[in-house]
Amino acid sequence: MQTKISVDSLTAASLAKPQTSGQVHHYLQFSDLNRDEYDYLLKRSAWLKAKFKSYETWHPLHDRTLAMIFEKHSTRTRLSFEAGIHQLGGHAVYLNTRDTQLGRGEPVEDAAQVISRMTDIIMIRTFGQEIIERFAANSRVPVINGLTNEFHPCQVLADVFTFVQARGPIQGKVVAWVGDANNMAYTWIQAAECLGFEFRFSAPEGYQLDGSRLSGSSLNHLTVCSDPRDACKGADLVTTDVWTSMGYEDENASRVTAFKNWMVSKDLMSLAKPDALFMHCLPAHRGEEVSAEVMDGPQSVVWEEAENRLHVQKALMEYLLCGRLD
Ligand code: CP
Ligand code: NVA
Repeated sequence: MQTKISVDSLTAASLAKPQTSGQVHHYLQFSDLNRDEYDYLLKRSAWLKAKFKSYETWHPLHDRTLAMIFEKHSTRTRLSFEAGIHQLGGHAVYLNTRDTQLGRGEPVEDAAQVISRMTDIIMIRTFGQEIIERFAANSRVPVINGLTNEFHPCQVLADVFTFVQARGPIQGKVVAWVGDANNMAYTWIQAAECLGFEFRFSAPEGYQLDGSRLSGSSLNHLTVCSDPRDACKGADLVTTDVWTSMGYEDENASRVTAFKNWMVSKDLMSLAKPDALFMHCLPAHRGEEVSAEVMDGPQSVVWEEAENRLHVQKALMEYLLCGRLD
């Protein structure tokens, strides 16, 4: 039987400073942190993961409250944030649009004022990025993006961490994207620029990246391929996502037709490096964006990737509230 090692929770509690004055650090998109901060977070995630695996207690956020606001469905994001804050000594409050005044037209600015006076950190999953930006502008405490239409930074942080744990530094590597120009793809583009790797994007005609969302410097790390085979050639990591993201369900039928040649199959994987990894943020649709043999095959690290949401978000919450602790 495993035993828990106790720590002095009062000492741990003093690590987390109340965020009532000074600059509040939010995490609304991947580019909100720099490479040096990611180096720290990746090391810290490994440290927290090892502590979790050995059942060691670590409560730097003792008595802290995380508000989790969901305007869209979730399994992994809710569970990993809720379990994560609990494991750091705090607790979570789950709010959704259906049960709160947010669903009855209370301005997001007013909600931010109120929620951030009662909690220490806030995670939001919503539609437009401008909603989370308006919320953050009125929040006294850090706000974390748990997915918007535009970005999913916590997921890409987990993906990068998964790659680094399995294969070492991601700098100089090639990440192939086979799929939609969605929140994941745009977040990978920011990660490639920030961390220094090549992101090869491939999507069918009509589903290309919006050039107005790409900064000049991001183009140095981005290759757009019209054929998914070109994207996958020699890649270190092949990744994809659903063809229809949440909020775009009306387009599902046309997307199924447009993306039919964009399934990550064994043939496509065979073009990548022999030790290439396959990732998917999940939930996945076998037989659509990925074949069952790739999803459940030896190169797939999707379950480790999902678990790593827990570890990286613990590192992120600790960092936003306590700063660097080593
Ligand atoms: N990958 C991800 O964010 O999963 P959920 O939608 O289940 O949170
Ligand atoms: N791109 C997907 C990711 C789900 C975790 C969506 O936004 O629905």
